[in-house]
Amino acid sequence: MNTLNDRAAWLGAGGATCATLPAPRVRTHRLVLLGPPGAGKGTQAELLCRALGTCHLSTGDIFRAAQCAAEPSPALRDALATMRRGDLVPDNVVVALVRERAGCLRCQGGFLLDGFPRTQAQAEALDVLLTEQGLTLDAVLSYELPLEEIVARLGGRRTCPRCKAVYHVVTRPPRAEGTCDQCGGRLVQREDDRPESIRNRMRAYEESTRPLADYYARKGTLIPVLASGTPEEVLSRSLEALKQRASGESTRAEIGKATAEERTVLDDERRLV
Ligand code: AP5
Repeated sequence: MNTLNDRAAWLGAGGATCATLPAPRVRTHRLVLLGPPGAGKGTQAELLCRALGTCHLSTGDIFRAAQCAAEPSPALRDALATMRRGDLVPDNVVVALVRERAGCLRCQGGFLLDGFPRTQAQAEALDVLLTEQGLTLDAVLSYELPLEEIVARLGGRRTCPRCKAVYHVVTRPPRAEGTCDQCGGRLVQREDDRPESIRNRMRAYEESTRPLADYYARKGTLIPVLASGTPEEVLSRSLEALKQRASGESTRAEIGKATAEERTVLDDERRLV
């Protein structure tokens, strides 16, 4: 298993439950990962989940898991064809799938959304879902990488269809060529990692997803992270950024508290006058 949680409730149809849940943490993280295809979101999700005990919620993984369904619904068949071309699946289909799994947002280990939201409409739908669940986002980690590195990463990617672990033939090879270290599954190249599909995915990202960085910057939750370097270097950059944000929040809370106390003293003094 490549995360602490088996993600059965997320990957399966409605009603599935996870056999293993992450342990509750002192600080629960609820995060979104933004970034172009191949920036390393899935790789960081796996590492961050191990470090933070969160559950990895990837909409791309829902579609890839559905590829194995014996009889996918017509809507799902259309969505899978769209994904193979590298285009975005329509918002109403994606939001309905996430809504069916809204219980996963309340996972006791927190969550890490990877690949959702991808459009302004999806970001607004997520805001509504979180409000309904009584939750707020802690931060949005936005990974940035030059185009030539993206192309090299996608060209060498191999994935395990069984446990969803991600490898790279050069930078993260499995111990035995073509075989998953974690579950022994046969590694494959994703259908949407062909050049034509990669071009479509990059175009969709530039048009629909990149503007979300501004959306979250306005909300004050955006944390830009440089995605160059080894996966472990990017992980420690991400963890450090989260730590700094958390300490900034507690400082602000302290200042707010002090100001409130000062206000009480002033109010008391005014009453005495
Ligand atoms: P999705 O599965 O979300 O794919 P993506 O966003 O295109 O991202 P990728 O999985 O390609 O890349 P990644 O950033 O996770 O990189 P990875 O860690 O694998 O979506 C697929 C499709 O589903 C979409 O195109 C769309 O059709 C549909 N879809 C999904 N969600 C949707 C939504 N919300 N709305 C509409 N449609 C939706 O890394 C890449 C490679 O680089 C790997 O080989 C890895 O080993 C290697 N690598 C990673 N980090 C490093 C590093 N630091 N150094 C060296 N190599 C590295």
